[in-house]
Amino acid sequence: MKTLVRNGTIVTANETYRADLLIEDETIALIGSRIPEDPGADRVIDAGGKYVMPGGVDVHTHLDMPFMGTSTSDDFQTGTVAAAFGGTTSIIDFAIQYRGQALREGLEAWIKKAEGKAVIDYGFHMIATDLPEPALHEMDRLVDLGVTSFKLFMAYPGAFMLDDASIFRGLLRTAENGGLICMHAENGGAIDVLVKQALAAGHTAPKYHGLTRPTTAEGEATGRAIALAEMARAPLYIVHLSCADALNQVKAARDRGLPVYAETCPQYLFLSDQNLEEPGFEGAKYVCSPPVREAWNQGELWKGIAGNDLQVVSTDHGTFTYREQKQAGRDDFSKIPNGMPGIETRLMLLYNGGVLPGRISLNRFVDVVATAPARMFGVFPRKGTIAVGSDADLMVFDPNLKGQISAAAMHMRVDYNPYEGTQVTGRPVTVLSRGTVLVEDGRFVGPQGHGRMLKRDRFNPRPTPSRELAGVAG
Ligand code: URP
Ligand code: ZN
Ligand code: ZN
Repeated sequence: MKTLVRNGTIVTANETYRADLLIEDETIALIGSRIPEDPGADRVIDAGGKYVMPGGVDVHTHLDMPFMGTSTSDDFQTGTVAAAFGGTTSIIDFAIQYRGQALREGLEAWIKKAEGKAVIDYGFHMIATDLPEPALHEMDRLVDLGVTSFKLFMAYPGAFMLDDASIFRGLLRTAENGGLICMHAENGGAIDVLVKQALAAGHTAPKYHGLTRPTTAEGEATGRAIALAEMARAPLYIVHLSCADALNQVKAARDRGLPVYAETCPQYLFLSDQNLEEPGFEGAKYVCSPPVREAWNQGELWKGIAGNDLQVVSTDHGTFTYREQKQAGRDDFSKIPNGMPGIETRLMLLYNGGVLPGRISLNRFVDVVATAPARMFGVFPRKGTIAVGSDADLMVFDPNLKGQISAAAMHMRVDYNPYEGTQVTGRPVTVLSRGTVLVEDGRFVGPQGHGRMLKRDRFNPRPTPSRELAGVAG
């Protein structure tokens, strides 16, 4: 099967140039300034006036995840279809090891959830909630199997939270086995006390979710996580970083040359604590952890993205319906399921909030939504770039298409959108995964269950391209 993508402007993390591109079966076979009509293409896509960019890589999603007495409403089918509409062609989701379980049991449960359902390629991070000696050995085996990152929690006491000794043991292990620890950095003990105090004082509204999880709790935990990683001589990746207090810790560590990396998410760039105060119970729509912050933090995060103190923008996509699931916290903010939709809107929001106002270049946009996450999590250069030999995971992006974000017009299985009514210019119009068209003309046209599990490489943020991908002959 050959597909020719003609007349487009190819955008990678490093370059922008006019070229045609030939896909043979699942990979990119040729890139040239004018590929002749006759390579026997079965299909021609005209990308005139449009960008051809690598499909997005979203390294933080929660599909079909049991959490806070319910389960995220998007499963691997609905969530990955929505991802494809938004231009994302790979995800890394989180498999959970519950206390007393082997890591492998948790992983197998998540593989079953995804297999035959996901329409785009997927990998897993392993959430470890229990790290006795046998689980540390298992971490090595998982790394060998291509599950090369582990999420540890400094929050959610009694559920996911690990003590510092366990976290340190996990970091020592990844320093040896080439894995990467992804840290949820919030001081869970202090937050727990603040939540109990607020509820005892009769403060039950959604805004108290934000007030009981102050930026200091995130800054402190981020600094502690960095100190533990430094002692263990391990690299560290901070997930869903939300505020300047935490960013300053990351910056200081990076200035000292430590291998510390971080992601932020659109909710921290576009939403604020004011959303938690929307009338009635509407604030529940924006409850996630860490919480959305005072709006001035957004400017600091944008500067962090532009200056590479933040390398990745992921979504933390975790959907709970407003009319049913979020209502669990009507009389108690601490029972509102934490999480919000984002898998479909990440690229359009970043393009509109980042590229159009000139906060970041188009190439930096590609870097933070595709290339850097692919590098960080061991799937580059197969994913996250446009190069001969890479998987043909592409989106044709129309920079002039105007629209409005609305839950009704989107594909995520949830009854609200936190960005409802936002006007956007530019969005993906054709999306391919491994050479197969998934989305065109506003319709999903791909095969069900097209997605495959990704076996990821060990952590190496700057992998050398293969000889073929580097264009080296012989
Ligand atoms: O609010 C959030 N982020 N919920 C999902 C779990 C997590 O910490 O990523
Ligand atoms: Zn988290
Ligand atoms: Zn998450």
